[in-house]
Amino acid sequence: MPRRVLVTAALPYANGSPHLGHLLEYIQTDVHVRARRLAGEDVIFMWAVDTHGTPIELRARREGVDPADLVARMHAEHAQVYRDFGIEADIFYTTHSEETRKHAEFIYEKMQAAGQIDKRVTRQLYCPKDQMFLPDRFVKGTCPYCASADQYGDVCEKCGHTYNPTELKDPHCAICGTAPELRDSEHLFVSLGRFEGFLREWLNSAKLQSAVRNYVMRWVDDGLRDWDISRDAPYFGFPIPGYDGKKFFYVWFDAPVGYIGATQKWCDEHPDRASFASYWRADQSEDTELVHVIGKDIVYFHALFWPAMLHAAGYTTPTRINVHGWLTVNGEKMSKTRGTFILARTYLDHLPADYLRYYFAAKLGPEQDDIDLDMADFVSRVNSDLVNKAANLASRCQKFLVGRLEGKLGPVPADAEPLMAKAREALAQVPGLYANFESAKALRLAMEIGGEFDAYITAQEPWKVVAKDPERARAVCTAGMWASKVIAAILKPVLPKWAATIEEGLRLPAPLDFVNAIEPLPEGQTIGAYVTLAERIDAKKLEAIVEASKETIGGAAPAAPPTPAYEVEPLAAEATIDAFAPVDLRVGKVLAAARVKGSDKLLQLTIDLGPLGQRNVFSGIAQSYAPEQITGKHVVVFANLKPRKMGKFGTSEGMVLASGAKEDAITVLELDPRSLPGEKIS
Ligand code: 2FM
Ligand code: ZN
Repeated sequence: MPRRVLVTAALPYANGSPHLGHLLEYIQTDVHVRARRLAGEDVIFMWAVDTHGTPIELRARREGVDPADLVARMHAEHAQVYRDFGIEADIFYTTHSEETRKHAEFIYEKMQAAGQIDKRVTRQLYCPKDQMFLPDRFVKGTCPYCASADQYGDVCEKCGHTYNPTELKDPHCAICGTAPELRDSEHLFVSLGRFEGFLREWLNSAKLQSAVRNYVMRWVDDGLRDWDISRDAPYFGFPIPGYDGKKFFYVWFDAPVGYIGATQKWCDEHPDRASFASYWRADQSEDTELVHVIGKDIVYFHALFWPAMLHAAGYTTPTRINVHGWLTVNGEKMSKTRGTFILARTYLDHLPADYLRYYFAAKLGPEQDDIDLDMADFVSRVNSDLVNKAANLASRCQKFLVGRLEGKLGPVPADAEPLMAKAREALAQVPGLYANFESAKALRLAMEIGGEFDAYITAQEPWKVVAKDPERARAVCTAGMWASKVIAAILKPVLPKWAATIEEGLRLPAPLDFVNAIEPLPEGQTIGAYVTLAERIDAKKLEAIVEASKETIGGAAPAAPPTPAYEVEPLAAEATIDAFAPVDLRVGKVLAAARVKGSDKLLQLTIDLGPLGQRNVFSGIAQSYAPEQITGKHVVVFANLKPRKMGKFGTSEGMVLASGAKEDAITVLELDPRSLPGEKIS
């Protein structure tokens, strides 16, 4: 067992309010940390809000406030929501801090001194009105391939071609509409290729899920590209030393350094605890485990750039990265119009945090499968597991003991011993399960214990036995309370308040942990009255959440800018549904997917159209989906699209329907896996 464990969750971006997708990860991290502490490990959870970059800069401009004030406000909002969800980080700091700046500069300077940073002049679009270089997504224009108007600077949503923003015809600034100019600017690139040897070694030694290791290794095999870590002013971020305030670190350069900045701040405030160096200096952190919990969209940053940066500057490299999948709601991507894009605060306005903590933890396993918040399942899981099983066991035994037997515990009966032995065995597995992010399995064990003891109590009928043999009734209910204690210990990382209620009710001499939970309850001890552990959820509460989410997002969203942030093209002439008639959409099953050499945006897909044969399709989704993530999915194919040549890459025979506001946040329209390849979609 390592002497010290440092755990992080990804740093939420300050631009938006926390939603349930964020909470999935933070609950997973919080449960992991709490469980490892209960197992006796020395764990710290270092966390912060991620504050820099163009979106913050522009939002602050729109709101007419200083970006630092904007992020301070957002920081407070995030911190309050996470507190209310019981996420107990040791620190929730900010990347806009002196500590983070100092460490980011240190890493940069080390890389520079080692010749790992190259300067190159790049030609980019510049808006003379906004006086800024425009990132790809802040330029719009006409696609150079299919002439569709109003396309972003990186990929055409109509024909799927990718290009540089400088190739757009009639480009205009997406903020103000002005035609941009081409300007040269010097940029700083980390030459990642120089880290190939180190990265291969690190990928083989760090603890990664095997699917993650495989696809990151594929990126390395495909050749590591240089990484542009600089951005021109105006930019909300840290100035790059030596550039006189004209250049800033790209937000993804300093964001993960926020993990270090937060630790620095926390260590400075806790001089009695382990030193900063024992966590982060490679030469002094031999006994430290460094665990990052992240979503599958940011693996590239955490498993390539980040270890390279750390290695270059002599910092501890991650020991483990645990990647989780997306959150879907009712089987679909969260949607603002359907009301399933649920803000964390909206949820809390209607239901207790603990139910969501339980539901997510009861579904999370060690792999990166997507987790579905199915509303009906949520209600039935909480009601059947927490209320009908676990709470019911404690409630009936405790109420009976207090109401009929002076609240006094007895010895446990011999016939409960086989069940107790089973419960002890189950508890022994729990620390390992939680440490391996297998909370679903740990909680299943708790519910099995609950179900078995509940059945035992029902069979022994203490309420009948009590008249003739009160000591037998006391013994049976004492066994039920002992089981409730073991269950509470297993639930404790997920539902700390539940455990505290049991500790209090049983007058336990010490807080429950995974070891002391099996100790016998003292005979003759008087216990307290039952305090409600969980109450049934009414499905109407969830309907109300969905309704409120429609309002929050559809109406005056709290974060909406006071004036439109940009102009959009006027609507095209009205059309009837017949406009779709020539488009033949079919079910396609992705049989295989591969990265395309020479393009970081395209995936080459082999798609099965059943009786219509197979198609080779190039799709601009590579920054949103690893090949493994799309393989096997049933997708919507524009099947009668005229085959078109995709430059040097080959011919694309159809198009997969997908869209997204950012190239790394594209969602492919996914169909039920039971749909048959080739079937027509109407
Ligand atoms: O993807 C995101 O929302 C980023 N803000 C995560 C940053 S994690 C770490 F690198 F800071
Ligand atoms: Zn502009």
